[in-house]
Order: sequence, then structure tokens, then C-alpha cells
Amino acid sequence: LLSPEENEKLTRVEGNAPMGQLLRRYWQPFALSRDLDGPDSNPFRVRLLGENLVAFRDSNGKVGLIDKHCPHRKADLFYGRNEESGLRCVYHGWKFDVDGNCTDSPTEPKASNFKEKIHIKTYPVEEKAGILWAYMGPADLQPELPDFEWMHVPETHRYVSWSTQDCNYAQAIEGGIDTVHSVYLHSIMDSHRKLDEWKNNEAWGGRGMQTRYRTKDNPPMLFAQNTDFGVIVGGRYAGDQGEDYWRYNLFLLPYYSMPPGDPGRKLCHAFIPLDDVTTARWSVSWTLDKPFTSREIANMRLGSGVHCELIPGTHRPLRNGTNDYLIDREEQRTLTFTGIKGTGEQDFAVQEGMGPICDRSDEHLGVSDIGIIQMRRRLLADAENLEKGVEPYAATHGDVYRVHAGETMLPSGIEDWVDAQNTQQALAARW
Ligand SMILES: [Fe+2]
Repeated sequence: LLSPEENEKLTRVEGNAPMGQLLRRYWQPFALSRDLDGPDSNPFRVRLLGENLVAFRDSNGKVGLIDKHCPHRKADLFYGRNEESGLRCVYHGWKFDVDGNCTDSPTEPKASNFKEKIHIKTYPVEEKAGILWAYMGPADLQPELPDFEWMHVPETHRYVSWSTQDCNYAQAIEGGIDTVHSVYLHSIMDSHRKLDEWKNNEAWGGRGMQTRYRTKDNPPMLFAQNTDFGVIVGGRYAGDQGEDYWRYNLFLLPYYSMPPGDPGRKLCHAFIPLDDVTTARWSVSWTLDKPFTSREIANMRLGSGVHCELIPGTHRPLRNGTNDYLIDREEQRTLTFTGIKGTGEQDFAVQEGMGPICDRSDEHLGVSDIGIIQMRRRLLADAENLEKGVEPYAATHGDVYRVHAGETMLPSGIEDWVDAQNTQQALAARW
């Protein structure tokens, strides 16, 4: 549980808020490469850390991320014309290139050097792994991008999507690293009814260890440990035949999570604050050994697995709080735990249902919330350290992101997290 002051510090990111300043030391994913299709793309609205921006791809394919408002009379540049090497405001024809220079101000006398004094706010952009990244921090501290495994696989082995979420980013991270919730929130009813059958059925081994041991009457013993990239959340579940099932979820600064994923398919989330009460939930699925099939890609586009079904032409989930996530009560009685379709939407229902910014001063945390506690402490400590002038290590050390989440079986009887360190290191190994 957090004091109201700590909760404010954890959740507020707009303006000069300390957490916003911490986040600005890192690169922010803000759009997919395919959101800005081709040279001279349509302008694309961006909201990030409380700022309203417009992104566009110029005639050379270079992406600019500029203030939404024209510096002249503050018209909305989303309505601008993306012309030869610049975005032109439709109000008076002023034009800006991707570097923020005003390259034309046709309402001013030709002879004047007026336009040379005009600049629009811009942020540096990098394009990597089909993602457009912005850096909104101090120019002299601009770091390299984080070095995730999924940045190194071929495009055919990776699928990335994002959708908006109507609540504070910390609620989303808490869901992302909450290793015990999925056997409830995301479960199929039969998995509980037929638990004993499952446990004794060898065939389920092929579905992965997760399904076999992470059942709701098998509460785990959880551990959490600070590390250079963030926090490792380890869980031990009782197994059978003299073994325990261990899994490791990762919280990676400042807002990424990596669960073990399914066999053959890996998963990474980012929960990026668009403002204090809106978050972009990014999902990266990737494989190491083979490309996704067209069917798999088509299904992910339609919202299978962790990828949401979107209102066409937007990044807003089709099933959202305004329609109660299209909850089907009959399905809830008979088939799924929630009656809500889609794991992302199931997450949204519980996370948005807490309110835009959850009041953490009257919650009741249990032993299973140790990872969440550690994540909050870590973010708060990093924000407080930055206020004292201590820069966050991970922001400038992209190599700390070269890690895996994982799962394994270990001999029963290991009670101590430290005894499992070797395994943890093998699983969360640098690659
Ligand atoms: Fe979830």
C-alpha cells in the first residue's frame, strides 16, 4: 500500500512530475512504422507523456514528430498538408520540416528573414523493429535504444500491435507483472473443473508447463529481486514427482514486462503513459525458430492472443469500457472466467475498472503481490534518485535488456530464492 503522496509520485507523468522526468530519460515507442505508411504519409496524431504531437513521414521517408500546434496561431497541424519535404499548416500555409525548421511562411514579406526565427518543437525519432521511438529527454543525455531480443529477429518472426487503455500506466504494469492473475482472469472454466484429470494426463505436457501447474488451487511462493534492468519476479509452484515448477517474469524499466510466454512464442509488453489517465499497451510477439504463418498474423490482427481487436482505422479496442467490453454473461457462466473475449480486453476490464488512477492507500496486498510492491518501490526510488541528480542506469545501458523470461522444473524442496539463483541466471540469461 502506498501513501497518497507516494501514489501521486508513482502515477503522475505530465508536466514536471518526477516520474515523467524519469520516463523522459528513456526512448518511448509512439507508433508502428506502418501507422505512417510510405513517404508523404498522412499526418498521425500522437499523445505522449501529456503532450499533443503530430507525426509524419516526409518525402524521403524520414519521420518527424512535432508539436500539434502551429507556432503561428496554434492551428492543429494534424489537418496539415504533407507536401514536398514538410508539413504545411492549412490555416496560413506555414510549412515545417522534420527537424522543426519553418521552410515557408507565405503570409510574411518575401524579403524578411522572419521564417528563420521560427521553429516548431520536435523530438528525435528512431525507427527500429517496425516501431517508431521518440526521445523526449535532455538532448545531451540522449541514449541508445534498449536492445531487446525481438529487435534482432527477422520481420517475419515478429508481430507488434498497440492499443489505448483508459487508465494510468502503473495499473497496466501491475497487471503485466502479476504472475498469478492469469489462471483466473484469463482462464477457461474447464481448466478448473478438470484440474485433476489434467494433472494426471501426460498429454498436457505438450501444452506447456504453465497450464499444468499454474492452477488456482496451487498458490505459488513468490520472490522478487532488483536487478540492473528492473525486477525479476520468480514464482515457485508445487509440481509432482519430486519437482517444482518455477517461472520468472521480468519487469524492465521503465514500463516493460516480459512473461515466460507460450512454448515457441515469446511475449513482451510496454505500457507507455500517453498522459496521467491514458496508456498505450504495446504487445510484441516473436519466435526464434520460424516465421509466423499468414494465418497466425491474420489472427493476431483480428485480436487473437494478447493482441486486441481494434475499431478499424484506430488503436482503440472494439471491446472497451463504454460497452462493458461486450461481456457475455452466459459465456461467463459456462465457458470463460470473465465472459469477455480477448486477454487484453480482460486486462482492461479489471485495470480500467479501478478508476483512471487507482487509490492505493486502502488496498490489501497479499504475499502474492511481492513483485508489484518491488516494481513500485523501484520506480519510486529511481524517480527520487533522479531528483537528487542520479541518472537511471538502464536508460543509458541498452544491453541490460538482453534478457529472457522463463520457466523450468527444479527438484522439490528449494525454499530459498537464492538457492534458485543459478537457474534464475540461466533463464534470465544474457543472450
Ligand atoms: Fe493479464
